[in-house]
Amino acid sequence: MSRASCYDVVIIGGGVMGCSIAWRLAQEKQRVLVLERSVPGAEASSAAAGMLVPHAEAHGDNPMTRLMMKSAARFPKLSTELQNATGMDVEYRRSGALRVAFTARQGKELKRPSWASRAKVQQKSFSSAGLSKLESSLAKLHSGVLYPKDARIDPRLFLRSTHLAALRSGAEFRSGTYVECIEQRAKKAEAVRLEDGTRIMAGTVVVAAGSWSALVEGVPLQRQDVIPARGQVIELTSSSPLTDRVIFGPDCYAVPRDDGRILIGSTTEFVGHRRGVTARAARDLLTAAIALMPALGDARLTGSWSNFRPFAADGLPVLGKTGVDGLLLATGHYRTGILLAPITAEIIRCLILGKRSPVPLASFSSSRLARSSPLSK
Ligand code: GLY
Repeated sequence: MSRASCYDVVIIGGGVMGCSIAWRLAQEKQRVLVLERSVPGAEASSAAAGMLVPHAEAHGDNPMTRLMMKSAARFPKLSTELQNATGMDVEYRRSGALRVAFTARQGKELKRPSWASRAKVQQKSFSSAGLSKLESSLAKLHSGVLYPKDARIDPRLFLRSTHLAALRSGAEFRSGTYVECIEQRAKKAEAVRLEDGTRIMAGTVVVAAGSWSALVEGVPLQRQDVIPARGQVIELTSSSPLTDRVIFGPDCYAVPRDDGRILIGSTTEFVGHRRGVTARAARDLLTAAIALMPALGDARLTGSWSNFRPFAADGLPVLGKTGVDGLLLATGHYRTGILLAPITAEIIRCLILGKRSPVPLASFSSSRLARSSPLSK
C-alpha cells in the first residue's frame, strides 16, 4: 500500500463543513484528504444566503439554540484568522437582523417569548414610526424586532477562504471523485473505496456530504434520515445598497451584500434532488420582497438558483460518533449550515483528537433518528 493512499482522516464532501473540518485537522498536523464529487463548495454551501442569526431564529432555550449561539460567537475571531491565512475578507458583518410585521396579528408573534432571557436572546422592539427611522428602505409596517447581535457573511467567500486555508495548512482535496462505499471490518471504518476502484485507507472517515450523506454506502443511516429540502433564491442588485441588515418579512427574507446585491429567499420543498427555480417561487419571492422594500421594484434581477439543505426529520444536525468505530457524521445542518460550520469543525476536531466535545452531543446523535423519524417506520 503506497503512503499516498493512507490518511489519518478522509472527509467525504468538500462543502463548508468538509473544508472547515479539514482546515482544523490539518492545523493539528493530521494527514487529511477531502473527497468531493464536483468542486469544493459546488452545492449548498455556495447557494446559502449567509445569515448568521441565532437570536432571530432561536426557538427556545434548548441545545440547538446553544449550539447556534456558540458557533456564532466564533465568527469574529474566525473571520480575522481567515483574513490572516488567505488575505480574503469574507464579508463578515455584524449588521443585526430585523423581523418585521405588516399587521397587528403578525406583530403579536414578534413578542419576546418567556424563554428569551434564559436563552440569552437579545432583541429590541420597534413601533411603526421607530422602524421607519431605523430602516428607511422598508415599506410602512406595523412593527418590528431588531436582533442587534446577529450578523451576515458571504458564503461563497467564506467557502473559498476556508478551502484555501485548509490547502495552505496541508489538507489535500480530490475533486471529481465519486465515492462507492465506506469499507468496514469488525464494525470499524477502514477505507473509502472510489468508483474507479481506488481504495483509500483512513484512520477516521467523516461524512460531510450534505443532503447526499445518507446515500453513501456504508453510512449507518437510513436513506430517509437525511433528505434534501430544496431552497430557491433570487438575487437582485440595486444601484446603491438599500440596507445593511438581514431582514425577515412574513413571506421572505432579504440578505444584503456590501456591493448592493440583495438575496431574497427562500422556499422549503421536499422534491428530492430536483434542481430548478420555478416561476411560482420566483413570483412569490419577488412579490414578498417588493412589498417589504418597495425600492426593490427597480432593482435588477441578477441571479437565481436552488440548492438542497440536508434535512433530518427533527430539523437538527446529525453530529459525531456512530455505531461504527472511526466513522463520524457532520451533516443534517438544514437551514444553519454556514452558521454551524465553525462549531461543527471544532466538535469533529475534538472527537478525532480524543478531546471533550465543546457541547453535549446527545441531541444531535444519529441514534435519535431511528426513534424520531416518522418516515423510517
Ligand atoms: N438559512 C436560510 C435558509 O436556509 O433558507
